[in-house]
Amino acid sequence: SAAEKGGYDYFMLKEIAEQPKAVADTLLGRIDGSGSLTLDEVRIPANVLREVDKVVIVACGTAFHAGLIAKYAIEHWTRVPCEVELASEFRYRDPILDQQTLVVAISQSGETMDTLMALRHAREQGAKVLAICNTNGSTIPRESDAVLYTHAGPEVAVASTKAFLTQLVACYLVALYLGQVRGTKYADEIRAVVRDLGSISGAVERVLETMEPVRELARSLAEKNTVLFLGRHVGYPVALEGALKLKELAYMHAEGFAAGELKHGPIALIEDDLPVVVVVPSPRGRSVLHDKIVSNIQEIRARGARTIVVAEEGDDAVVPYADHLIRVPVTPTLLQPLVATVPLQVFACELATARGNEVDQPRNLAKSVTVE
Ligand code: AGP
Repeated sequence: SAAEKGGYDYFMLKEIAEQPKAVADTLLGRIDGSGSLTLDEVRIPANVLREVDKVVIVACGTAFHAGLIAKYAIEHWTRVPCEVELASEFRYRDPILDQQTLVVAISQSGETMDTLMALRHAREQGAKVLAICNTNGSTIPRESDAVLYTHAGPEVAVASTKAFLTQLVACYLVALYLGQVRGTKYADEIRAVVRDLGSISGAVERVLETMEPVRELARSLAEKNTVLFLGRHVGYPVALEGALKLKELAYMHAEGFAAGELKHGPIALIEDDLPVVVVVPSPRGRSVLHDKIVSNIQEIRARGARTIVVAEEGDDAVVPYADHLIRVPVTPTLLQPLVATVPLQVFACELATARGNEVDQPRNLAKSVTVE
């Protein structure tokens, strides 16, 4: 009903708008007054976490994209090797797991059969399983050793939005907590990022306030058949997520690529007026990556692409090559997906509407996939 949608036309619009609160709620009570993480709910004892020698993340779809981003954070802050695998592939290849493996199963619904079967397989091999889940008491957390709940609230639209942002928050919390428990050379950086997390909800809010040009752009592209997405570092999974949203909602051919792979093939796809969304990493921090992606934008534009550039506020280097510029607030490098994903959600939602598609219930899809 209209009341359930809180005055919005679709649940998806409501859920996109709820993201600042979802992010804040997922952080709530998990950082103490001194700026340390207190994840007591993760009932895996600190000594067991200190012994972990490998993290394996399993998930499907959008949750898998959260896992891809988590890998960057976990390996950086904890120095523990991390693999991310589609849950549907995982148990069929005889993965190497033992008591020192921490498996992280990410699932909004907690009922996805592929993810459930992957975690059962992991536990049979003696691995500890931590679930990141949005649904209290669902099967995946019940069958795991521990759970870190995301507090996105119920997500009704089939296309995941606020659950994704809170999965990212939970993944960062796990990465930072593991780093904190194990003690790494990044202790100061970990403390600083925990502090920065406090302003992330406000940053997401600011992105939402500037979305009208993105909606306008989406409407102008309603007749296109293809949109490509490029990213690098944590921007690469953001590109994959932007493409998935567009497939699900707009039924368009959309693909995400690692920008560095362009010249290894995908650049052949560039043709006149092809829309290409590029997620640009911060010019601070890993500035080499930033400069490389600016050259990528120049290269595709020289071949006719219509460039839609998502870049941090104050990043002037991209201005000459951006046909459309979408600004996101400055964040620590690893946290950028929390702001950079939002315009891509809005973009896909608006394109779906412009194409006359059913936004909350895309064809052929179910909210939770309970068969393998
Ligand atoms: C996201 O927009 C999708 N509808 C889908 O990829 C989803 O993320 C996937 O099926 C996993 O679901 P889960 O998080 O409930 O396990």
